[in-house]
Amino acid sequence: MKLYVTTTPGLEDVSASEIKSLGGKVKEIRHGRGRVFLTGDLKLVAKLNYLARTIERVMVLLKVEKFESLNDIYGIVKEIDFSFINPEQSFAIRPLRVGNHDFTSLDVGRVAGQAVIDSYLDGRGKRLKVNLDEPDVIIRVDVINDEVYVGLDTTGDVALHRRGYRVYEHPAPLNPAIASALVMLSEWKCDEILVDPMCGSGTILIESAMMCRNIPPQKFRKRFQFVKIWGDKVLEDVKRDVVEKRIDLNLVGIERFRKHLRGAKINSEVAGVADTIDYVQGDVTRLCLKRANVIVTNPPYGLRIAKRGLIEKLYEGFLKSVVNADRIVVITAEHKILKEKAEKLGYSFEGERWVKYGGLDTKVFVLV
Ligand SMILES: C[S@@+](CC[C@H](N)C(=O)[O-])C[C@H]1O[C@@H](n2cnc3c(N)ncnc32)[C@H](O)[C@@H]1O
Repeated sequence: MKLYVTTTPGLEDVSASEIKSLGGKVKEIRHGRGRVFLTGDLKLVAKLNYLARTIERVMVLLKVEKFESLNDIYGIVKEIDFSFINPEQSFAIRPLRVGNHDFTSLDVGRVAGQAVIDSYLDGRGKRLKVNLDEPDVIIRVDVINDEVYVGLDTTGDVALHRRGYRVYEHPAPLNPAIASALVMLSEWKCDEILVDPMCGSGTILIESAMMCRNIPPQKFRKRFQFVKIWGDKVLEDVKRDVVEKRIDLNLVGIERFRKHLRGAKINSEVAGVADTIDYVQGDVTRLCLKRANVIVTNPPYGLRIAKRGLIEKLYEGFLKSVVNADRIVVITAEHKILKEKAEKLGYSFEGERWVKYGGLDTKVFVLV
Protein backbone atom coordinates (compact mmCIF):
# COMPACT_ATOMS: atom_id res chain seq x y z
CA MET A 1 0.00 0.00 0.00
CA LYS A 2 1.04 3.59 -0.60
CA LEU A 3 0.86 5.48 2.68
CA TYR A 4 1.72 8.86 4.07
CA VAL A 5 2.02 10.16 7.58
CA THR A 6 1.61 13.66 8.90
CA THR A 7 4.13 14.94 11.38
CA THR A 8 5.41 18.24 12.79
CA PRO A 9 6.84 20.43 10.00
CA GLY A 10 10.61 20.55 10.55
CA LEU A 11 10.80 17.08 12.12
CA GLU A 12 10.02 15.01 9.02
CA ASP A 13 13.49 13.40 8.96
CA VAL A 14 13.10 12.20 12.57
CA SER A 15 9.74 10.64 11.71
CA ALA A 16 11.21 9.10 8.56
CA SER A 17 13.93 7.37 10.64
CA GLU A 18 11.32 6.11 13.04
CA ILE A 19 9.15 4.80 10.18
CA LYS A 20 12.18 2.93 8.79
CA SER A 21 12.93 1.42 12.18
CA LEU A 22 9.36 0.08 12.26
CA GLY A 23 9.75 -1.53 8.83
CA GLY A 24 8.29 1.12 6.51
CA LYS A 25 9.92 1.92 3.16
CA VAL A 26 10.26 5.69 3.00
CA LYS A 27 9.79 7.01 -0.55
CA GLU A 28 9.73 10.75 -0.14
CA ILE A 29 10.09 13.33 2.60
CA ARG A 30 8.29 16.64 2.09
CA HIS A 31 10.47 18.87 4.23
CA GLY A 32 8.66 21.76 5.86
CA ARG A 33 5.28 20.30 4.91
CA GLY A 34 5.00 17.72 7.67
CA ARG A 35 4.53 14.79 5.32
CA VAL A 36 6.41 11.56 4.73
CA PHE A 37 5.43 9.16 1.94
CA LEU A 38 6.12 5.44 2.29
CA THR A 39 4.95 1.98 1.39
CA GLY A 40 3.96 -0.86 3.66
CA ASP A 41 1.29 -3.40 4.48
CA LEU A 42 -1.63 -3.46 6.88
CA LYS A 43 0.62 -4.66 9.70
CA LEU A 44 2.78 -1.56 9.22
CA VAL A 45 -0.33 0.62 9.44
CA ALA A 46 -1.12 -0.99 12.80
CA LYS A 47 2.50 -0.67 13.96
CA LEU A 48 2.75 2.99 13.01
CA ASN A 49 -0.51 3.78 14.76
CA TYR A 50 0.33 1.85 17.90
CA LEU A 51 4.09 2.25 18.22
CA ALA A 52 5.32 5.37 16.41
CA ARG A 53 6.16 8.19 18.83
CA THR A 54 6.77 11.16 16.55
CA ILE A 55 3.92 11.13 14.03
CA GLU A 56 0.41 12.59 14.07
CA ARG A 57 -1.63 10.45 11.67
CA VAL A 58 -1.27 7.61 9.19
CA MET A 59 -3.14 7.71 5.89
CA VAL A 60 -3.51 5.37 2.94
CA LEU A 61 -2.63 7.58 -0.01
CA LEU A 62 -5.54 7.70 -2.45
CA LYS A 63 -4.21 10.54 -4.56
CA VAL A 64 -1.87 13.51 -4.61
CA GLU A 65 -2.21 15.91 -7.52
CA LYS A 66 -1.81 19.52 -8.56
CA PHE A 67 -5.01 21.50 -9.09
CA GLU A 68 -6.13 24.96 -10.16
CA SER A 69 -9.77 25.25 -9.12
CA LEU A 70 -12.37 23.80 -6.78
CA ASN A 71 -13.80 22.02 -9.83
CA ASP A 72 -10.47 20.24 -10.30
CA ILE A 73 -10.67 19.01 -6.70
CA TYR A 74 -14.11 17.54 -7.41
CA GLY A 75 -12.73 15.76 -10.50
CA ILE A 76 -9.63 14.46 -8.67
CA VAL A 77 -11.68 12.98 -5.81
CA LYS A 78 -14.37 11.58 -8.12
CA GLU A 79 -11.80 9.55 -10.05
CA ILE A 80 -10.82 7.63 -6.90
CA ASP A 81 -12.19 4.11 -6.47
CA PHE A 82 -13.97 4.06 -3.08
CA SER A 83 -15.21 0.49 -3.39
CA PHE A 84 -13.22 -0.44 -0.25
CA ILE A 85 -16.04 1.25 1.68
CA ASN A 86 -18.81 -1.13 2.65
CA PRO A 87 -22.20 0.22 1.38
CA GLU A 88 -23.54 0.18 4.94
CA GLN A 89 -20.69 2.32 6.26
CA SER A 90 -20.84 6.06 6.73
CA PHE A 91 -18.10 8.49 5.79
CA ALA A 92 -16.95 12.04 6.42
CA ILE A 93 -14.50 14.34 4.72
CA ARG A 94 -12.03 16.13 6.98
CA PRO A 95 -10.73 19.04 4.93
CA LEU A 96 -7.66 21.17 5.51
CA ARG A 97 -6.56 24.20 3.51
CA VAL A 98 -3.18 25.92 3.67
CA GLY A 99 -2.21 28.79 1.32
CA ASN A 100 -4.07 31.45 -0.68
CA HIS A 101 -7.23 30.27 -2.40
CA ASP A 102 -10.55 31.80 -3.39
CA PHE A 103 -12.46 29.13 -1.47
CA THR A 104 -12.62 27.91 2.13
CA SER A 105 -11.93 24.55 3.71
CA LEU A 106 -15.71 24.17 4.09
CA ASP A 107 -16.00 24.42 0.29
CA VAL A 108 -13.34 21.71 -0.03
CA GLY A 109 -15.33 19.47 2.33
CA ARG A 110 -18.58 20.06 0.45
CA VAL A 111 -17.14 19.47 -3.02
CA ALA A 112 -15.06 16.44 -2.00
CA GLY A 113 -18.02 14.92 -0.14
CA GLN A 114 -20.18 15.19 -3.25
CA ALA A 115 -17.38 13.67 -5.33
CA VAL A 116 -17.17 10.63 -3.01
CA ILE A 117 -20.95 10.13 -3.18
CA ASP A 118 -20.99 10.47 -6.98
CA SER A 119 -18.01 8.16 -7.43
CA TYR A 120 -19.62 5.48 -5.24
CA LEU A 121 -22.98 5.85 -7.00
CA ASP A 122 -21.27 5.33 -10.36
CA GLY A 123 -19.21 2.38 -9.18
CA ARG A 124 -21.49 0.54 -6.74
CA GLY A 125 -24.92 2.01 -7.47
CA LYS A 126 -25.46 3.06 -3.85
CA ARG A 127 -25.53 6.38 -2.11
CA LEU A 128 -23.12 6.45 0.83
CA LYS A 129 -24.27 7.93 4.13
CA VAL A 130 -22.50 10.96 5.53
CA ASN A 131 -21.89 11.06 9.28
CA LEU A 132 -19.84 14.02 10.40
CA ASP A 133 -19.72 13.06 14.11
CA GLU A 134 -18.86 9.37 14.17
CA PRO A 135 -18.04 8.23 10.65
CA ASP A 136 -16.86 4.70 9.91
CA VAL A 137 -14.54 6.03 7.23
CA ILE A 138 -12.65 9.33 7.35
CA ILE A 139 -11.30 10.78 4.10
CA ARG A 140 -8.70 13.52 4.55
CA VAL A 141 -8.55 16.12 1.80
CA ASP A 142 -5.61 18.45 2.42
CA VAL A 143 -5.28 21.36 0.05
CA ILE A 144 -1.76 22.69 0.44
CA ASN A 145 -0.94 25.58 -1.88
CA ASP A 146 -1.38 24.11 -5.40
CA GLU A 147 -1.59 20.45 -4.38
CA VAL A 148 -4.37 18.30 -3.04
CA TYR A 149 -3.66 15.20 -0.95
CA VAL A 150 -6.47 12.68 -0.57
CA GLY A 151 -6.03 9.98 2.04
CA LEU A 152 -7.93 7.35 3.98
CA ASP A 153 -7.34 8.20 7.62
CA THR A 154 -6.36 5.08 9.56
CA THR A 155 -5.83 6.96 12.85
CA GLY A 156 -9.04 8.93 13.36
CA ASP A 157 -10.04 12.30 14.67
CA VAL A 158 -7.83 12.03 17.76
CA ALA A 159 -4.25 12.49 16.56
CA LEU A 160 -1.44 10.27 17.82
CA HIS A 161 0.18 12.97 19.94
CA ARG A 162 -2.71 12.42 22.34
CA ARG A 163 -1.30 9.74 24.63
CA GLY A 164 -3.88 9.52 27.36
CA TYR A 165 -1.56 9.98 30.36
CA ARG A 166 -1.86 13.76 30.61
CA VAL A 167 -4.31 13.97 33.46
CA TYR A 168 -2.71 17.21 34.67
CA GLU A 169 -2.83 19.86 31.94
CA HIS A 170 0.05 22.34 32.13
CA PRO A 171 -0.85 25.80 30.72
CA ALA A 172 1.92 25.52 28.10
CA PRO A 173 2.42 21.80 27.54
CA LEU A 174 4.74 20.37 24.91
CA ASN A 175 3.24 18.12 22.24
CA PRO A 176 4.40 14.59 23.27
CA ALA A 177 5.23 13.68 19.65
CA ILE A 178 7.62 16.64 19.53
CA ALA A 179 8.98 15.73 22.98
CA SER A 180 9.82 12.25 21.67
CA ALA A 181 11.47 13.70 18.56
CA LEU A 182 13.65 15.96 20.75
CA VAL A 183 14.77 13.00 22.83
CA MET A 184 15.66 11.13 19.63
CA LEU A 185 17.63 14.15 18.39
CA SER A 186 19.54 14.22 21.68
CA GLU A 187 20.73 10.63 20.98
CA TRP A 188 20.18 9.87 24.66
CA LYS A 189 21.03 6.33 25.63
CA CYS A 190 19.02 4.59 28.31
CA ASP A 191 21.97 4.35 30.73
CA GLU A 192 22.73 8.09 30.59
CA ILE A 193 21.43 10.76 32.96
CA LEU A 194 18.79 12.87 31.22
CA VAL A 195 17.54 16.05 32.87
CA ASP A 196 14.70 18.38 31.92
CA PRO A 197 15.44 21.41 34.13
CA MET A 198 12.15 23.19 33.28
CA CYS A 199 9.99 20.11 33.15
CA GLY A 200 6.47 21.52 33.63
CA SER A 201 4.12 18.54 33.58
CA GLY A 202 6.93 16.12 32.75
CA THR A 203 6.16 15.33 29.10
CA ILE A 204 9.79 15.01 27.95
CA LEU A 205 10.73 12.72 30.85
CA ILE A 206 7.62 10.58 30.55
CA GLU A 207 8.21 10.11 26.81
CA SER A 208 11.87 9.23 27.48
CA ALA A 209 10.90 6.64 30.07
CA MET A 210 8.24 5.09 27.82
CA MET A 211 10.78 4.90 25.00
CA CYS A 212 13.42 3.03 27.00
CA ARG A 213 10.91 0.77 28.69
CA ASN A 214 9.32 -0.03 25.34
CA ILE A 215 5.91 1.12 26.53
CA PRO A 216 3.73 1.73 23.45
CA PRO A 217 2.81 5.41 23.12
CA GLN A 218 -0.79 4.39 22.37
CA LYS A 219 -1.10 1.91 25.21
CA PHE A 220 -4.03 3.89 26.62
CA ARG A 221 -5.88 4.56 23.35
CA LYS A 222 -9.23 2.88 22.91
CA ARG A 223 -10.05 3.66 19.26
CA PHE A 224 -8.10 3.31 16.05
CA GLN A 225 -9.98 4.21 12.88
CA PHE A 226 -8.43 1.40 10.82
CA VAL A 227 -10.06 -1.19 13.08
CA LYS A 228 -13.46 -0.04 11.77
CA ILE A 229 -12.34 -0.86 8.25
CA TRP A 230 -10.14 -3.93 8.65
CA GLY A 231 -11.06 -5.34 12.08
CA ASP A 232 -8.80 -5.67 15.13
CA LYS A 233 -6.84 -8.84 14.37
CA VAL A 234 -3.69 -7.08 13.10
CA LEU A 235 -3.73 -4.63 15.99
CA GLU A 236 -3.98 -7.52 18.44
CA ASP A 237 -1.00 -9.21 16.73
CA VAL A 238 1.05 -6.02 17.05
CA LYS A 239 0.07 -5.63 20.71
CA ARG A 240 1.04 -9.23 21.43
CA ASP A 241 4.55 -8.69 20.04
CA VAL A 242 5.32 -5.82 22.44
CA VAL A 243 7.60 -6.69 25.34
CA GLU A 244 7.83 -3.95 27.94
CA LYS A 245 11.11 -3.69 29.87
CA ARG A 246 11.07 -2.77 33.53
CA ILE A 247 14.52 -1.17 33.58
CA ASP A 248 15.70 1.59 35.93
CA LEU A 249 16.54 4.90 34.32
CA ASN A 250 18.31 8.09 35.36
CA LEU A 251 15.69 10.72 34.65
CA VAL A 252 15.48 13.99 36.57
CA GLY A 253 12.88 16.75 36.31
CA ILE A 254 13.39 20.19 37.82
CA GLU A 255 10.56 22.69 38.02
CA ARG A 256 10.11 25.98 39.79
CA PHE A 257 6.44 25.61 40.63
CA ARG A 258 5.14 23.01 43.04
CA LYS A 259 1.78 22.83 41.26
CA HIS A 260 3.37 21.70 37.97
CA LEU A 261 5.68 19.31 39.76
CA ARG A 262 2.72 17.67 41.44
CA GLY A 263 1.05 17.44 38.03
CA ALA A 264 4.18 15.89 36.52
CA LYS A 265 4.16 13.20 39.20
CA ILE A 266 0.50 12.42 38.58
CA ASN A 267 1.05 12.17 34.82
CA SER A 268 4.07 9.93 35.37
CA GLU A 269 2.00 7.65 37.57
CA VAL A 270 -0.75 7.35 34.97
CA ALA A 271 1.91 6.54 32.34
CA GLY A 272 3.35 3.88 34.66
CA VAL A 273 6.84 5.42 34.88
CA ALA A 274 6.74 7.39 38.15
CA ASP A 275 9.17 4.99 39.85
CA THR A 276 12.00 5.95 37.52
CA ILE A 277 11.81 9.76 37.39
CA ASP A 278 13.11 11.98 40.20
CA TYR A 279 11.28 15.28 40.44
CA VAL A 280 12.88 18.17 42.29
CA GLN A 281 11.48 21.61 42.98
CA GLY A 282 14.03 24.29 42.12
CA ASP A 283 15.18 27.22 40.04
CA VAL A 284 17.49 26.07 37.25
CA THR A 285 19.39 29.37 37.26
CA ARG A 286 20.54 28.69 40.82
CA LEU A 287 21.76 25.16 40.17
CA CYS A 288 24.84 23.57 38.65
CA LEU A 289 23.87 20.34 36.94
CA LYS A 290 27.28 18.66 37.02
CA ARG A 291 26.25 15.04 36.50
CA ALA A 292 23.74 15.37 33.67
CA ASN A 293 24.80 13.77 30.38
CA VAL A 294 21.89 14.97 28.33
CA ILE A 295 19.54 17.94 28.72
CA VAL A 296 16.29 18.10 26.80
CA THR A 297 14.03 21.01 27.59
CA ASN A 298 11.30 23.38 26.51
CA PRO A 299 11.84 26.66 28.39
CA PRO A 300 9.14 29.33 28.67
CA TYR A 301 8.71 31.57 25.64
CA GLY A 302 8.46 35.36 25.92
CA LEU A 303 5.11 35.28 24.17
CA ARG A 304 3.78 33.46 27.13
CA ILE A 305 5.56 35.23 29.97
CA ALA A 306 5.74 38.70 28.45
CA LYS A 307 8.90 40.19 29.99
CA ARG A 308 11.94 40.02 27.72
CA GLY A 309 14.54 40.87 30.37
CA LEU A 310 13.38 37.94 32.47
CA ILE A 311 13.67 35.56 29.50
CA GLU A 312 17.22 36.74 28.79
CA LYS A 313 18.23 36.17 32.41
CA LEU A 314 16.53 32.80 32.52
CA TYR A 315 18.15 31.56 29.27
CA GLU A 316 21.60 32.72 30.34
CA GLY A 317 21.22 31.21 33.80
CA PHE A 318 19.96 27.94 32.35
CA LEU A 319 22.83 27.67 29.84
CA LYS A 320 25.37 28.35 32.60
CA SER A 321 23.89 25.68 34.85
CA VAL A 322 24.05 22.93 32.19
CA VAL A 323 27.47 23.78 30.78
CA ASN A 324 28.92 20.38 31.80
CA ALA A 325 26.34 18.32 29.91
CA ASP A 326 27.45 16.41 26.80
CA ARG A 327 24.41 17.29 24.66
CA ILE A 328 21.65 19.85 25.09
CA VAL A 329 18.47 19.96 23.03
CA VAL A 330 16.22 23.00 23.38
CA ILE A 331 13.02 23.98 21.59
CA THR A 332 12.11 27.64 21.79
CA ALA A 333 10.37 30.47 19.95
CA GLU A 334 12.97 32.79 21.54
CA HIS A 335 15.66 31.47 19.22
CA LYS A 336 17.54 34.75 18.87
CA ILE A 337 18.04 35.04 22.63
CA LEU A 338 18.96 31.38 22.97
CA LYS A 339 21.48 31.62 20.14
CA GLU A 340 23.07 34.81 21.38
CA LYS A 341 23.48 33.46 24.93
CA ALA A 342 24.78 30.08 23.74
CA GLU A 343 27.36 31.75 21.48
CA LYS A 344 28.46 34.02 24.31
CA LEU A 345 28.99 31.03 26.59
CA GLY A 346 31.04 29.16 23.98
CA TYR A 347 28.62 26.37 23.03
CA SER A 348 28.98 24.68 19.63
CA PHE A 349 25.88 24.24 17.51
CA GLU A 350 25.56 20.69 16.29
CA GLY A 351 22.08 21.31 14.92
CA GLU A 352 19.66 24.15 14.37
CA ARG A 353 16.32 23.77 12.60
CA TRP A 354 12.96 25.47 12.21
CA VAL A 355 10.01 23.62 13.66
CA LYS A 356 6.44 24.76 13.15
CA TYR A 357 4.70 24.24 16.44
CA GLY A 358 1.08 25.21 16.94
CA GLY A 359 1.30 28.21 14.61
CA LEU A 360 4.60 29.34 16.17
CA ASP A 361 7.94 29.39 14.36
CA THR A 362 10.20 27.74 16.89
CA LYS A 363 13.76 26.51 16.59
CA VAL A 364 15.29 23.32 17.88
CA PHE A 365 18.96 23.59 18.83
CA VAL A 366 21.36 20.77 19.53
CA LEU A 367 24.24 22.20 21.55
CA VAL A 368 27.44 20.51 22.62
C1 LIG B 1 7.01 25.68 28.48
S1 LIG B 1 6.89 25.07 30.08
C2 LIG B 1 7.40 23.39 29.97
C3 LIG B 1 6.23 22.49 29.64
C4 LIG B 1 6.58 21.04 29.68
N1 LIG B 1 7.50 20.67 28.62
C5 LIG B 1 5.33 20.22 29.60
O1 LIG B 1 5.09 19.53 28.58
O2 LIG B 1 4.52 20.30 30.51
C6 LIG B 1 8.27 25.78 30.91
C7 LIG B 1 8.32 25.48 32.39
O3 LIG B 1 9.50 26.06 32.93
C8 LIG B 1 9.24 26.42 34.27
N2 LIG B 1 10.25 27.38 34.71
C9 LIG B 1 10.32 28.70 34.44
N3 LIG B 1 11.40 29.26 35.00
C10 LIG B 1 12.05 28.27 35.65
C11 LIG B 1 13.24 28.21 36.42
N4 LIG B 1 13.98 29.29 36.63
N5 LIG B 1 13.62 27.02 36.92
C12 LIG B 1 12.87 25.91 36.72
N6 LIG B 1 11.71 25.91 36.02
C13 LIG B 1 11.32 27.06 35.47
C14 LIG B 1 7.82 26.96 34.19
O4 LIG B 1 7.21 26.97 35.47
C15 LIG B 1 7.16 26.02 33.21
O5 LIG B 1 6.51 24.99 33.88
